[in-house]
Amino acid sequence: MVKGIGRVAPPLKVGIAGLGVVGAGVVRLLDEHADVLAARAGRPIKVVAVSARDKRKKRDMPKGNWRWYADAVELAHDPEVEVVVELIGGSDGPARVLVEAALKAGRGVVTANKAMLAMHGARIAALAEAKGAPLGFEAAVAGGIPILKALREGLAGNRIDQITGILNGTCNYILTEMRETGRDFAEVLAEAQKLGYAEADPGFDIDGVDAAHKLAVLTAIAFNTKVDFKAVHVEGIRDVSAIDIAFAREFGYRIKLLAIARRTPRGIEQRVHPCMVAADTPIAHVDGVFNAVAAEGDYVGRVMFEGRGAGSKPTASAVVADLADIAAGRSAPAFGVPAARLQPLKAAAMADRIGRYYIRLIVRDQPGVLADVSAVLRDERISIESLVQRGRAEIENQPVPVVLISHEAREADMARALKRIARLRSVLQPPTLIRIEPL
Ligand code: NDP
Ligand code: HSE
Repeated sequence: MVKGIGRVAPPLKVGIAGLGVVGAGVVRLLDEHADVLAARAGRPIKVVAVSARDKRKKRDMPKGNWRWYADAVELAHDPEVEVVVELIGGSDGPARVLVEAALKAGRGVVTANKAMLAMHGARIAALAEAKGAPLGFEAAVAGGIPILKALREGLAGNRIDQITGILNGTCNYILTEMRETGRDFAEVLAEAQKLGYAEADPGFDIDGVDAAHKLAVLTAIAFNTKVDFKAVHVEGIRDVSAIDIAFAREFGYRIKLLAIARRTPRGIEQRVHPCMVAADTPIAHVDGVFNAVAAEGDYVGRVMFEGRGAGSKPTASAVVADLADIAAGRSAPAFGVPAARLQPLKAAAMADRIGRYYIRLIVRDQPGVLADVSAVLRDERISIESLVQRGRAEIENQPVPVVLISHEAREADMARALKRIARLRSVLQPPTLIRIEPL
């Protein structure tokens, strides 16, 4: 008998596709917390079928008496499976085929696949609604933080004006380790991969694409718009160097890869890029694999959520929360409003954004360099708040870093200025630009 309920209700029967970092975590959690989950959901949650590529692979999870499918799509047609849990990954390919097949067959779907949702979210939600099938993807954004439920339910009374997040655990881990230990980018990335934080292709993490996938999903829920991944301005952390981290510290900032969605008079701005944030703000202290999401509502003001953004256990926690909702019969439109009511997103052009900038140059140490750089900035109407040249080269003409902090400037003007600065003979590397974000 299930503790906490008088009568044993029939279990919710699930099929899990993908038994990697997240899938194995889900199997472990369902096993370890079976009783408490059954009490909370009103009935047990039972795995009846699974699929992965390699049946003989050793997996960090208990063994079960479930059916094995070499072809994941067959899970969608297993007559016993009520909910398919898709934990394979990839925006298209087997994951998408499986999800669409399951929904068409009227099965529920739970997925952690932000890449697929960023590309096909509106269509998948519409299909789920047409078939009356539950759809959950809490694990797709910010790992263990229940941010989607919070936005859909807890903040339902608010007009959301801005979402600011650290949405990629791998990047936050890399930036934190580089800052705190001075370790090398590649070494820390390899460690994040070993810890199960990174995507199958870690380029998605370090180039900002994964955070952009998540931001596109968050934006849709926060602003009731169709998911519009193409409208996200995306930059990653490959160009952030130890020099920038040191300068940030000197100026009282920390570098974070932020994902920001903001309501503006020009439309909705969606951007992911490295930012300098004041070292005394709460988000500056969200370190390691932790994620954070701050939402600004017109009635509630700012609320901030923090928790582990990647890894087996936090992500399994979010997947199982969706399963518990389905088992309990709690359902809501996955994007907060029915898919047909999601509006096309009116995107604010990045070129019109106004902000302050950190620009780091590596220049030849010779007379006239700073005058040349200043002349370009003057021509593009960009005014400089401070300029720092650290040290002098021992020998004239050797490379030295120069850092400029701008006053507020328009993105398009700054982009033009940087193009011209990059062409100066005394500038030895492409300039590094990091936006200074007031929070
Ligand atoms: P893994 O690479 O660890 O696991 C992927 C699993 O999918 C493996 O078990 C693999 O099988 C299986 N698989 C691959 N291709 C197929 C196929 N054609 N048919 C059946 N199974 C297949 O990935 P993760 O667990 O890290 O990620 C899974 C999903 O969760 C992704 O969408 C990811 O973006 C998302 N996610 C991951 C987080 C994390 O921290 N890792 C956090 C939040 C979301 P085999 O084991 O046999 O190779
Ligand atoms: N690769 C992702 C990250 C996993 O590092 O945040 C969680 O979505």
